[in-house]
This record gives sequence, structure tokens and C-alpha cells, in this order.
Amino acid sequence: MALIVAYDVHFYDRLEALFPHNLSVGKLFEGDRLAAEETAFRNGSMQAAYYIMALRAVGLDVAPISGFDKKKVQEEFFGGTTCEVNFLCGVGHGDPEMLFDRLPRLNFEEISSVI
Ligand SMILES: Cc1cc2nc3c(=O)[nH]c(=O)nc-3n(C[C@H](O)[C@H](O)[C@H](O)COP(=O)(O)O)c2cc1C
Repeated sequence: MALIVAYDVHFYDRLEALFPHNLSVGKLFEGDRLAAEETAFRNGSMQAAYYIMALRAVGLDVAPISGFDKKKVQEEFFGGTTCEVNFLCGVGHGDPEMLFDRLPRLNFEEISSVI
């Protein structure tokens, strides 16, 4: 199964559902497309990461993919909407013959500093 992760640049139209304790933040984004895009992209990416963890926690394999034709997916699935494609995920049970181990990570000292 393929999962399309997208973000709604007009997320601030749904603040009553998403951020009911401070509806006035919507004013920050109306008329500031760049701020709205940046916020939607950041928050949507984080929510997608949690979603990937949840899917993996229930035993599914999840493979994020950023190497795809974004324009085509955008046109096919989100034409005429305020949503923008971020990335795809393959979701299911991978063929054990084809799966590879967890990718390497940089160590803590390389990617962070404690001050
Ligand atoms: C946002 C994102 C996009 C990715 N895009 C690709 C891709 O286009 N092609 C690819 O071979 N791997 C891609 N990867 C890596 C694989 O999906 C990777 O195998 C997967 O994240 C599992 O590895 P992990 O255990 O290190 O998370 C991407 C990973 C992330 C997080």
C-alpha cells in the first residue's frame, strides 16, 4: 500500500478543531503564505514521523520515499486543493529477502551539543 503524506497550507481554517484555545493565531498565517507553508510543512512532517512510528509499533514495515515525481502526484491527487505533497510511504509487510537492516546513524556527539 502507498501512503501519500501531504500538508494543508490552509490549516489555519481548521483552528476550531486543531487549536481551539487560541484562535487568534490564524491571523498570523492569513496573508503570509510563506509562514503558513513553512509551519504546515514542519508540523506535517513531525506528525508523519509519529504516524510512521505508530504503524511500525503495530508491526507494519514502513518505507518513506522522497524520490518520486512530486508534480505528478500533486496533480493526480491534490489538484485544486490547498494540500501539498510532502513524501510517500510504502506500507505493508516487506519481503524478508529484500529487507535490509536499520540504516546507520551519526553518533550523538556528531549531531548535537550540550550547553
Ligand atoms: C523522509 C524520507 C525519505 C526517504 N526517501 C527515500 C527514497 O526516496 N529512496 C530510498 O531508497 N530511501 C529513502 N528513504 C530511506 C528509506 O525509506 C529507509 O529505508 C527507511 O527510512 C528505513 O530506514 P530506517 O530504519 O533508517 O528508518 C527515505 C527516508 C526518509 C525518512
